[in-house]
Amino acid sequence: MLKVHHIGYLVKNHKRGRDAILALGYKSVTEPVFDELRGVNISFVEKDGYVVELISPETGDSVVSGLYKKLGNSPYHICYSTDDFDGEIERLTKSGYVMFEEPKPAVAFENKRVCFLVHPFLGMIEILDKEDD
Ligand code: NI
Repeated sequence: MLKVHHIGYLVKNHKRGRDAILALGYKSVTEPVFDELRGVNISFVEKDGYVVELISPETGDSVVSGLYKKLGNSPYHICYSTDDFDGEIERLTKSGYVMFEEPKPAVAFENKRVCFLVHPFLGMIEILDKEDD
């Protein structure tokens, strides 16, 4: 079963984007951490039960640098957690999702695996492995 985990929000300047969302009444959940594998800074904030992940490109070849050029500052994925990570990814790829980023550990989630998939009529989703929770 897929459970909504967070909304991923792309911002160019992490500190300024974070200050702006905190000014709307969001509370800090985690301080920014650098994900070396993806070249991005990531932090989490929360409001009214909604968890938002701020992602900013920190290197020219970060995984979101191309997306930022297309989308600008914008929410761009919803993440779903599952306790059947491999099974869910198999089901999704069989039902039309295409792998955008292969399953890899994510430092922002204590090195649990995440995977990014794109649906031709829905866009990007992220799947988070909750197996160890
Ligand atoms: Ni995410």
